[in-house]
Amino acid sequence: MKVLIVGGGGREYAIGSALKRDKSVEKIYFAPGNGASDELGENISIGDYGELADFAKKNSIDLTIVGPEAPLVDGIVDIFQERGLLIFGPSAKAAQLEGSKIFMKNFLSRHGIPTAKYIETDSLEKASAFIESLEAPIVVKADGLCGGKGVIIAKSHEEAKESVRRMLSGDSFAEAGKRVVIEEFLDGYELSVFAICDGEDYLLLPAAQDHKRLLDGDEGPNTGGMGAYAPTPLANEEIYRKLEERVVIPTLEGMKEEGMPFSGVLFMGVMVVDGEPLILEYNVRFGDPECEELMPLLKTPAGELFYKAATGRLKELQIEFYDRYAVGVVMASKNYPYSSSPPSEIIVDDIHHEELKNNSYIAYAGVTRMEDGKLYATGGRVLVCVGLGESIEEARERAYMLVGQVHFAGKQCRTDIAYQALENG
Ligand code: AMP
Ligand code: GLY
Repeated sequence: MKVLIVGGGGREYAIGSALKRDKSVEKIYFAPGNGASDELGENISIGDYGELADFAKKNSIDLTIVGPEAPLVDGIVDIFQERGLLIFGPSAKAAQLEGSKIFMKNFLSRHGIPTAKYIETDSLEKASAFIESLEAPIVVKADGLCGGKGVIIAKSHEEAKESVRRMLSGDSFAEAGKRVVIEEFLDGYELSVFAICDGEDYLLLPAAQDHKRLLDGDEGPNTGGMGAYAPTPLANEEIYRKLEERVVIPTLEGMKEEGMPFSGVLFMGVMVVDGEPLILEYNVRFGDPECEELMPLLKTPAGELFYKAATGRLKELQIEFYDRYAVGVVMASKNYPYSSSPPSEIIVDDIHHEELKNNSYIAYAGVTRMEDGKLYATGGRVLVCVGLGESIEEARERAYMLVGQVHFAGKQCRTDIAYQALENG
């Protein structure tokens, strides 16, 4: 089977690495991929979705897998399907679950799926009145896609109102902020739970936990994610059962009822408050960096899994995972997440330690291969060092051993990934 992966981050690199282990996959293309993904397959630089579909047709691609949200929200799946091409991901309509926070919140409310109390509005007066009815901190969200930056946790009523003012006026997020969601702050712990869906059926993946803040101890600004691990002991059987009954099943039924059956990865951003899982948000794709830890745990051949999901045949599949743990530590460039950093060469020391070699890998993300043939750190999140082990401690130790082998100027990473599991697990 020939597979095309759309995207170029660590998530897509990890999907490519998993496909590489599946003997039925003979060739992988990345559009656009990154400076290291050409070791797994072939990078192609086609940005236009119509042209990409032409490429897929001409090169007899059997399956396209879409990594990031933007192409999904823009309708890449619809374009491919209109041309009779097989693609794994939700339609533009179904991708509104991520593309519009208002759509998502109203959907949750229509289907009685537990979430934070909220209003959606484009009126400063209504927003202010609702803000006054809540206790600080107060959460203000821009409706549209903002590259992960559209959520403000305001410490005071004044700050919340000011955030709303700046969003509605277009100052903060242009069109994406012209309508806002205001919601109560939920105090608990977060999980990332993924369901592979085929419109009808679903398969759940082991729950992961991301670390969104830049600094140790969950301090500093929000980022795209500084590290993750899976499975997390913070999600027990009961939480899984509640998520299936209260969230996954009503979501798939609801989407079908509303004429937009959900096929693709349903990413549930969950906050557990006093043992009860509530939905913070949906995404319609794998999390990054969660995908980098989940892919190596997948025992079922990845090509078969995504192919069955894209053809509506998940029912035929029994998904299997290795009974192990994975911890991933993001290495970011100097000025992340504030501004870009100058390119710097990446040097990875030879790993002589067999145990480390066999139980770890690097998922490359913001890297470019320059004309000198060397790999340079050119993005915010540069790569993820993933360690695997029989326990979270062992996986984490290996991840950090690998971190010690990787060098580039200005590198930064958190030193406490998986701390919540080790404190509470
Ligand atoms: P989102 O993009 O909606 O996941 O929000 C980004 C981050 O903001 C989440 O991962 C949470 O850490 C935080 N967040 C969002 N909504 C809430 C909420 N209602 N209560 C507490 N934290 C929240
Ligand atoms: N890791 C969080 C995200 O991908 O949105």
